Amino acid sequence: MKKIGVMTTGGDCSGLNSVIYRIICGAEKRNWAVYGILDGTDGLVGSSPNIIRLDKNVLPPEQAFIAGSFLRNGNVGQNNNFEKAVQTNKVQEFDRKLKKSLAQTNLDALILIGGNGSLSLAWKNRGIYSDMQLICIPKTIDMDIPLTDKTIGFDTAVAQLTHFCDDLMLTARSHHRWFVVQSMGRNCGALALTAGITGGASAILIPEIKFDIDKLVKHIKSVDTDYGIIMVSEGISLRGHSGRPADMISRKLTAAGIVNRTAFPEHMQRAGNTVPSDRLLAMQMADAALSAIANNETYVMTALQNDEIVTVGIDSVVSSGRAEKDPNIQNLIISNATVDYDNPLLVAANNMGIYIGETK
Ligand code: F6P
Repeated sequence: MKKIGVMTTGGDCSGLNSVIYRIICGAEKRNWAVYGILDGTDGLVGSSPNIIRLDKNVLPPEQAFIAGSFLRNGNVGQNNNFEKAVQTNKVQEFDRKLKKSLAQTNLDALILIGGNGSLSLAWKNRGIYSDMQLICIPKTIDMDIPLTDKTIGFDTAVAQLTHFCDDLMLTARSHHRWFVVQSMGRNCGALALTAGITGGASAILIPEIKFDIDKLVKHIKSVDTDYGIIMVSEGISLRGHSGRPADMISRKLTAAGIVNRTAFPEHMQRAGNTVPSDRLLAMQMADAALSAIANNETYVMTALQNDEIVTVGIDSVVSSGRAEKDPNIQNLIISNATVDYDNPLLVAANNMGIYIGETK
């Protein structure tokens, strides 16, 4: 009987419980034992590993499709956590404890459900996981992990942001005003682009595509409604201006005589019941992770590529995409997926008359 562990690290998103639930289902069928590590890697550096046996009574189906992580993501704000170790230059000590603690768990394999910070860290410190198989499942609302067409949590975040825009559109109309909505997504515009389209935005500004504020103003003045939504990604910047991107754009629009307000959906983008497509992806990725364990793979990530679920080496994930400094972890370089100029959604949005920046 194999003994496998599962943990969630980094920011949460909806869909994490679905993955954990499906890992439990698939492992049960294979007669493997599943253990959940509480609070991610932070849960492993206390006096003893914070680990519980998982089954369908512990995580029943009615809790499999709600947001958050049943296993929690970390002890943020407390003493025994990774952030504290980074701040106090004690990462090596943290990693030593992590390796020792993992040895105590006697796991044959660990499934890490994480974002690109967690993946890059796991690869950088791969020695920590050398005594077990390490399989990663990509999750993030940002969709900024290379080599996978979809990450767990993205579709639910799009749905959340779409509902937010639907509600705002009605009040926008009542008051003949525009709403500048700021999406999350860090330096990747995928979330803003997708939810901007599904939310009916007249303009979408993302970090990867340069925009011209005068052209944006001209565009808003030219559309045949005096209300609507301008979606801006949190990762955009405007030379000579500081502060929240939505506020910067809002000030420019006000100066040009366009009546507007800002709106910040913030962490609601990471909440909400998991949408069906994320539930399906969760099941497929959990299944692929368990198959990877059965096939003796290690240091791999499950990925969706051209409608097929595959595994790719973590080394190739971290060496693909655009290399950037992690915003939270000092000296960590992460690889980011980006929205390119020839992205089909971007091209179609442009063809629909949505202002998406200066594409030529
Ligand atoms: O990476 C996920 C994400 O939600 C980003 O989109 C956002 O910039 C960030 O995390 C917010 O982090 P925190 O929850 O620490 O404020």
